[in-house]
Amino acid sequence: MKKLYIETLGCQMNKSDSERIAGILSHFDYVETQDEKEADLLIINTCSIRQLSSDKAYSQLGVWGKRKKIKPDIKIGICGCVAQQDKEKIKIRAPYVDLIFGTHNIYELPDLIKKIENGEKVCAIRDKAVVCDQNEYKILRKDSVNAWIPIIEGCNNFCTYCIVPFTRGRERSRKPEEILKEAQNIINNGYKEITLLGQNVDSYGKDLKDENTSLADLLRKLNKLDGDFRIRFVTSYPSDITDDLIDAVDECKKVCKYFHIPMQSGNSRILKEMNRRYTKEEYYNIVGKIRKRFPLVTITSDFIAGFPGETEEEFQDTLNSIEELELDYSNTAAYSPRIYTKAAKMTDKFIPEDIKYERLERLNEKNKQACLKSNQKFVGKILRVLIENKTEKDGKIILNSRADNNKIVHFEDNSKSVGDFADVKITKAQTWCLYGEPVE
Ligand code: SAH
Ligand code: SF4
Ligand code: F3S
Repeated sequence: MKKLYIETLGCQMNKSDSERIAGILSHFDYVETQDEKEADLLIINTCSIRQLSSDKAYSQLGVWGKRKKIKPDIKIGICGCVAQQDKEKIKIRAPYVDLIFGTHNIYELPDLIKKIENGEKVCAIRDKAVVCDQNEYKILRKDSVNAWIPIIEGCNNFCTYCIVPFTRGRERSRKPEEILKEAQNIINNGYKEITLLGQNVDSYGKDLKDENTSLADLLRKLNKLDGDFRIRFVTSYPSDITDDLIDAVDECKKVCKYFHIPMQSGNSRILKEMNRRYTKEEYYNIVGKIRKRFPLVTITSDFIAGFPGETEEEFQDTLNSIEELELDYSNTAAYSPRIYTKAAKMTDKFIPEDIKYERLERLNEKNKQACLKSNQKFVGKILRVLIENKTEKDGKIILNSRADNNKIVHFEDNSKSVGDFADVKITKAQTWCLYGEPVE
């Protein structure tokens, strides 16, 4: 048995990939360890969404490179979006790395691992993914309650700031039968939540010409599977949310009434510059439609501060949108130029760093207020939650749970444990979480 340590940066897709990588390597006698010091093979699964994320990858490689000088037998690998993007550059910056593989090469690992074990250095970066059945290998899932299923990978949107189309390639949907098989396995193994993943999850099926299927169809099929579990899907592209999808979410009891729909900016000119395919008004319409249909729904978003050319007034539109739309939570970031992208070439319009970060601070403050306001809406309401883990505080056991609408809820109940569903009456709201008591 050899020991494997994987460090995962970035989004849920990367986390899900790491579970698949560990699963494939388990067929070759690798067991995962949480202690990197005892690992024979160290892998970093990287993210390049912003400069800071890329930098993290290289600094971790640097640390492991030093360790390899003392322990030359350890093998070092790098994969994920930085590997895909930087290809040959890694060989120059970190020549001690044994294995470089891209986001399209995960299912070639059985071959790659043999090569590095024979002392070869390997760099495997494909430009296009090879379609394969992911059910052939084990998946070593980190969580015992929630399980991720990537249903569509890649992105065709080419938002002008974003590296993802370059690191993840064009959209590829997995076949519905393959997804249903993975879902059935997950349920048989006692998981209580399935999260369907995609950079653009509501594009699901568009590339499967002979299947004529959509995310709405897939939700209806998954909803029919027997068992006590719930279903989520992330991330939605605003203008790809169809009425049929909203109907499906409504019809399907197991599907959570929760939408993550990044808006990116509250200003239509900036949205156009970003190559987002909707205006501020169209985004408002979608949110309005969803809120009307589902009274307890939560809608979360992502925003970028300081996109090239953004004026103070245009930035104000973003702050106003968070308030007007009563967004329940938003991820925020300062614009970071990414190689290959269109916006990175708009250097004459770059916003000075101090202004960008000052805007980010105001954005965060607005998000904080919006989140507290959203949480306060739920005081007195009963939410159905799934218990994710428990902690001990002052001698009491606190159950940490997540409501169907994705709100974090803490409560005490000695009759329940991790993986149970419960109805909880919300008694107190804080900025980032809710407190409640079990409903008898
Ligand atoms: N597919 C999703 C987003 C995936 S990337 C969508 O279309 O919305 C996750 C988030 O990172 C984005 O929503 C965006 O807010 C942020 N992001 C992407 N590129 C960025 C960049 N160059 N600088 C700052 N933030 C960025
Ligand atoms: Fe990036 Fe836009 Fe694709 Fe989202 S939709 S992954 S922001 S290019
Ligand atoms: Fe990062 Fe790649 Fe995900 S760039 S956000 S790990 S798709």
